[in-house]
Amino acid sequence: MRTLLAALLALIVFGGRAHADQFPSHPITIVVPFAAGGPSDAMARILGDRMKTTLGQAILIENVTGAGGSIGVGRVVHATPDGYTVSFGHLGTHVANGAVYKLPYDLVTDLEPVVLLPSNPMIIVSTNAVPAKSLPELIAWLKNRPQPATAGTAGAGSGSHIAGLYFENTAGIKLQYVPYRGTAPALNDLVAGQIEVMVDQTANSITQVRAGAIRAYAVTGDKRVESAPEIPTTDEAGLPAFHMTLWSGLWVPKGTPQDIVTKLNAAAIDAMNDSEVRKKLENLGLQMPPTDQLTPDALGAWQRSEIAKWWPMIKAADLKLE
Ligand code: MLT
Repeated sequence: MRTLLAALLALIVFGGRAHADQFPSHPITIVVPFAAGGPSDAMARILGDRMKTTLGQAILIENVTGAGGSIGVGRVVHATPDGYTVSFGHLGTHVANGAVYKLPYDLVTDLEPVVLLPSNPMIIVSTNAVPAKSLPELIAWLKNRPQPATAGTAGAGSGSHIAGLYFENTAGIKLQYVPYRGTAPALNDLVAGQIEVMVDQTANSITQVRAGAIRAYAVTGDKRVESAPEIPTTDEAGLPAFHMTLWSGLWVPKGTPQDIVTKLNAAAIDAMNDSEVRKKLENLGLQMPPTDQLTPDALGAWQRSEIAKWWPMIKAADLKLE
């Protein structure tokens, strides 16, 4: 009986080890919880394309959209914890959504953090038809309208929605939110003049701002974005209370073996250290995470501290889900 138990134990321990040693033996899927062509999708594709060099397997991007990204995250929570299904997310999906929705999963205990990814400030933009030319003029225009201006978001609890609420609170204005499945389709509608404003991730809007297709008023970081130095910060433009940086990260389902998490973490760090990758990300206004914050534990601690910071504010705002 004892021999049988020892054999079973060895099978479990060494069987599991062999499985982790071979990882990855087939393609990995990163679930992006927003529409293709948006900022989350772009970052996941740029990093995934380089991660495949380290991991030796293709990285597939699957866009599972809806409900502010919470459907895509749920897909990963319920996946097999073997490292082949990875959740890409950010301050909206892995922090704010826990305060906005009654999620059928726990953002901290049902997921294993892998690595913190680049962050970017938000950018206040409008369609060119809006008459304002500066942030104070935009705020005055928003205040003096008979009806709130329409503001595109990636759904309740998304980064663009939380940023919109922050803008409302600090500027004393009211917006009428129009939810999309990501800020890629929202930006298309902004360019076309179907909606009027957005508080978007810089990485998403920057190309259209440079092309003159929409107007930018300010970025919400503490310094200007290197690739668009003509856009003032909110401090400089007269709204110093509005500071927000949207960070991203990778997670896997709880129970994923630690050495698989380590391999995924190392591949993402290799990607962020690649000069070509950095150039592409920095051109979008993205900033690399601090090098001492790249362990899975550091992401876990950061996520918990962001939950402690944002949940009381979001719950106090008593959001109505569109
Ligand atoms: C996206 O990729 O569409 C964004 O990350 C959405 C958002 O949170 O605003």
